[in-house]
Amino acid sequence: MKILSKSIPLPSILVSLLMLISLTISAQSPTEHWRPSIHFSPKKNWMNDPNGLIYFKGYYHLFFQHNPKGNDWGNMSWGHARSKDLWHWEELPVAIPHGEEFIFSGCVVWDKDHVSGLGDASKDLLVAIYTADYPNKKQEQHLAYSNDDGLTWKKYDQNPILDIQLLNFRDPNIIWHHSSKQFIMSVAKPLDRSVQFYGSKNLLKWDLLSEFSNQGELEMIWECPSLVELPIEGREKESKWVLFNSSQGVQKGFVGMQYFVGEFNGKTFINENTSDTKLFVDYGKDFYAAIPFYNTAPNEVMWLGWALSWQYAKEQPTFPWKGQMSSVRKLSLVDTHEGLRLKQDFQPDFSSLEPTFQAKDISISKPKFLNGMKMLQGKSYLIDLEIESTNADRWGLKWQSVDNPKEYTVVAFDENKKQWFIDRSHSGKILSPGFFKLDAAPWVEGKAKHVRVLVDHSMLELLAQEGTVAISSLRFPHSIRENLSVFSEKGKLDLKQITIWEVK
Ligand code: FRU
Repeated sequence: MKILSKSIPLPSILVSLLMLISLTISAQSPTEHWRPSIHFSPKKNWMNDPNGLIYFKGYYHLFFQHNPKGNDWGNMSWGHARSKDLWHWEELPVAIPHGEEFIFSGCVVWDKDHVSGLGDASKDLLVAIYTADYPNKKQEQHLAYSNDDGLTWKKYDQNPILDIQLLNFRDPNIIWHHSSKQFIMSVAKPLDRSVQFYGSKNLLKWDLLSEFSNQGELEMIWECPSLVELPIEGREKESKWVLFNSSQGVQKGFVGMQYFVGEFNGKTFINENTSDTKLFVDYGKDFYAAIPFYNTAPNEVMWLGWALSWQYAKEQPTFPWKGQMSSVRKLSLVDTHEGLRLKQDFQPDFSSLEPTFQAKDISISKPKFLNGMKMLQGKSYLIDLEIESTNADRWGLKWQSVDNPKEYTVVAFDENKKQWFIDRSHSGKILSPGFFKLDAAPWVEGKAKHVRVLVDHSMLELLAQEGTVAISSLRFPHSIRENLSVFSEKGKLDLKQITIWEVK
């Protein structure tokens, strides 16, 4: 310290100080141009996982991992927002604040029959079950309840409701299981790459039923499990059970989500694929910790995820918020040549709106800026491409900065590699070396060449081939003025139809 102060003259200390101050100020400039408008992001401060998703009395409730005091992870509490249409979100006051314990991820269920005996039995009762994290000591499952439709919560005075004396034991998710007439909780033992299932009749006392582990992707820890019964498209009244968890995604070193398809008999989940089968939910790097909504109509399973990655979440260059949710997606299973696979559809279905732009039977052989697509003013829109045929090497959509042509993002299909991809290596601000690696998904044999891209400022979500292919990627262009074109390389692309719905 002494040597430092001696060797640096006062003026340069002043200059460094001034630089530091100006850096801090510039880092704090609001970045509203990157804020998605149809996806939820908190007005200010940090957000990660969605929690306690529930449909209740006309509202979709979204609770979320939140730092109410800062733009970085910390002070973990449950934030709260709600929406009537899954598109306009209203942020509400913090629902469950942290105490000595951090309020980690969990779920909310409707205690319709007041089986827990908590609260005022003359009013509706919502029950939140979440992980209480005592930093570096223990993780236990706790309960809180609400008699005012989720606005305010009372922590149960007999917490914990489940404690197995582990440092890592978290993210309970609960369903009502009709045939065994009990609540089933899935909860992760992250370091063991395992999910435990517990059963309960009253939400307070939980009995261990079974444990599922050592299958699928095992590289990174397992978090945020959920178990749901999904309808199988085209097979009326048939369904299968699906177990999801968050862990490593498609790319080594980056988080993502996987799923297992099988049966659940009220006690045990049986994977119908071999234990080394790896099935991924989304091939982008920005989809994590998704859980389904509780209490939606049967066959209307919907979810949303955190649209960011732990690998570079801290670097997200936004202010005064950090973190956003993905689109809401409806889930089902669909037959493919390789077996049953997950199908995701955007919710709400924006294609029921009046289209902003539509063109039919067009042939493209070089980048084509279609009338009305040039310089889309709004920054939130759904694009739908139906392909007739192509002999091109690659084709797709390209967003290119008007001010700096070297800045662009591409969503495309590579005919030689039979691969869908999002290329954000030149998309503006690079948050991680991961931005240089394509987010790529394989072609699904037998499914139509049909593409949907939901664009919402800094978010791009591709759902292709009837929703069997999903890629979610963030990008942070320096320039907010950009042209959008359809392109085709080394050959021709014949489009049956292209439609754009601007979401205002
Ligand atoms: C997943 C996660 C959860 C945990 C929460 C803490 O992103 O690590 O396992 O409950 O975030 O914020």
